[in-house]
Amino acid sequence: MIDIRSPLERDLDGLFACLRGYHLHLLGDEPLADSDYPEDALLTVRNRIAEIRLDTNSFVAVDGDEVLGFCCWDWHDREQRAAKTVIITVARAARERGVGRLLQEARMQRMWDDGAASIHTWSADPASIAWYERHFGYRRIGETPIRHALHRFRWRDRVWWGLHRGTFGYDTLQHLVVERG
Ligand SMILES: CC(C)(COP(=O)(O)OP(=O)(O)OC[C@H]1O[C@@H](n2cnc3c(N)ncnc32)[C@H](O)[C@@H]1OP(=O)(O)O)[C@@H](O)C(=O)NCCC(=O)NCCS
Repeated sequence: MIDIRSPLERDLDGLFACLRGYHLHLLGDEPLADSDYPEDALLTVRNRIAEIRLDTNSFVAVDGDEVLGFCCWDWHDREQRAAKTVIITVARAARERGVGRLLQEARMQRMWDDGAASIHTWSADPASIAWYERHFGYRRIGETPIRHALHRFRWRDRVWWGLHRGTFGYDTLQHLVVERG
């Protein structure tokens, strides 16, 4: 049975494994920052750090001890009550079974409950964009060049750094928004 809940300490390895499947590279002892590119590649990195609070603003989808998916959110502009979805990813073997939908519904509900007036997201992948539009009421409001992004993951007093590009083969991120109905 699939359960959607906040991550527990025992989920950390599994959720980072899910993220690796979506081209998230944890910065550690590896010689390359992004192993999907050759060593002499020039990476364009956005000058903003995406904060991922694993103990408060994240969800995992689990089946027993197995982590099948992960998602998280943050405030885009707290004063304007604009929230944003940051990352969602489901392990390849578990896709197309409704896990992503359960994760997305859980984080949207949390953002509305926490007072969001709008929810923003940015995506380059046409299948994901269509998914947000078809099932969750988002509409496109603009576009921006796609860049690598630095992510800082926090779990209580522990910190991990990651570099993420997510989607290959596209230059542009679509900016999508859904307003509180
Ligand atoms: C997007 C994603 C989380 C959906 O998870 P999922 O568990 O397969 O989702 P569900 O089973 O609830 O729904 C399947 C839907 O996802 C759509 N989808 C979106 N992106 C997809 C992708 N990269 N690969 C396959 N299906 C995708 C399918 O078209 C399908 O749409 P439909 O229900 O209208 O037919 C998952 O495909 C994924 O992890 N993709 C890679 C990471 C990613 O692209 N994240 C979003 C970037 S903003």
